[in-house]
Amino acid sequence: MTFDEARALFPVLERFAYLNAGTLGPLSRPTLTAMEERLRFDQEQGRGGHGWFMTVLELRARVREQLAALIGASSAEMALTGSTTDGCNIVLSGLELESDDEVVTTDSEHPGLLLPLHVSGARVRVAEVAARPGVDALQAILSCITSRTRLLALSHVLWTTGQVMPVHELKRESGLPILVDGAQSVGAIPVDVGELDYYTVSCQKWLCGPEPIGALYVRDPEGLRVGVPSYFAQKSLEPDGTFVPAEGAARFDSGWLATTTLAGLEAALASAPEWRFEHAAEMAALCRGALRERFEIVADGEKSTLVSFVPAGEAATEAARLYDFGVIVRDLPGTGWLRASCGWWTSGDDIDRVLAALA
Ligand SMILES: Cc1ncc(COP(=O)(O)O)c(C=O)c1O
Repeated sequence: MTFDEARALFPVLERFAYLNAGTLGPLSRPTLTAMEERLRFDQEQGRGGHGWFMTVLELRARVREQLAALIGASSAEMALTGSTTDGCNIVLSGLELESDDEVVTTDSEHPGLLLPLHVSGARVRVAEVAARPGVDALQAILSCITSRTRLLALSHVLWTTGQVMPVHELKRESGLPILVDGAQSVGAIPVDVGELDYYTVSCQKWLCGPEPIGALYVRDPEGLRVGVPSYFAQKSLEPDGTFVPAEGAARFDSGWLATTTLAGLEAALASAPEWRFEHAAEMAALCRGALRERFEIVADGEKSTLVSFVPAGEAATEAARLYDFGVIVRDLPGTGWLRASCGWWTSGDDIDRVLAALA
C-alpha cells in the first residue's frame, strides 16, 4: 500500500487534519464497510442461532490471535476486553492486594489505570517522571520500590508528555510483577511484551478500531485470580457458582463484545501497512520540528507518536478554535498543553494545517 492509498482509506481526512488518535483513531472505509456488513449479516442470519453463534466465536478467535501477534504474544495469553481500563481493573481485582501492600506508579498516569490502582486497597507510591529523561525516570521509579512493593503499574507511553517509559528495564532491574498500560503504544510504536506480566491494549486508538474494544495480555493466566468474571470465565459451573476457569487468558474476557465492533476491528487490523511505525515516527519528528520553531515542546526528543506543546492561548479554547479550522488535536486537562497525535495516515500537509491554524 502506498501512502496515498493509505490516506484514501479514511473519509475523515477529506475534511480534517485529524491528529487525535491518542483519543480515538480514524475509521477506515474497510472498517466502516465491515461494520455495516456485519450488522446486516447478524439480522439476516438469525442472531442467536447456533450457526450464527459459531461465527461470533470464530470472529473472536481471529481477533484475539491478530491482537496477540501484534505484541509478540500467543492467543492463549490474550483476553478480549472493552478497554485498557477494563484490563487494569481485571489485573488489580485479581491480585487481591491489601492495605500494607504497595504499588509503584508514575505522576503521569491516565485515570484508566490510576482509579483501579486507587480502589485496589494497596498503598500507591507515585514516582515523579514527568518531563525527565529515560534514565532519570527509571531511577525515580526504582527508588520508590520497597520490600512491600507487589506491583509496578505504569504506561508504556505517557498520554500527557508522550515519554516512552523503560518498562522492560524496570522488569529486568526489579524482577517485580509489572502491569503496563499500552493505550498509547500498541499500534503507535513497535511493542513486544517479552518478560512483562500484564499489558493492556486500547483498540479504538492507534489500531483504528471502533469503540469500545480492548485486550489484555496475561503472561501467566493460571497465576491471576479471575476477579471480574463474565460468562466466558468458566469452562464448567456448579449450582453455587463455583467454576472451573476457561483455558488461558480467555477466562478474563470482559464478556460479550458487539459483533460490529469486532468485525470493524478485524478489518482495521488488516488494513494497517507494514510501514506504519516508520511513517508515524517520521511524522511525529516533523511535527515536533515544526512546532518547536514557535512553541515550547513538552519532553522534547521523545520517540513516541504524541507531541505535546504549550500553545499561546488557553489550551481548551485553542483546541475548540482549531476544530472550527478543520484541525483536531487534544487539550490535556490541567496542564495548559495541546497534544498532536501523528499516525501512519498523517501527512506533512496535516502538520502545515496545524501550524497555520495555531494562534
Ligand atoms: C495512557 C492511557 N491509559 C488509559 C486510557 C483509557 O483507555 P480506555 O478508554 O481504552 O480505557 C487512555 C485513554 O486516553 C490513555 O491515554
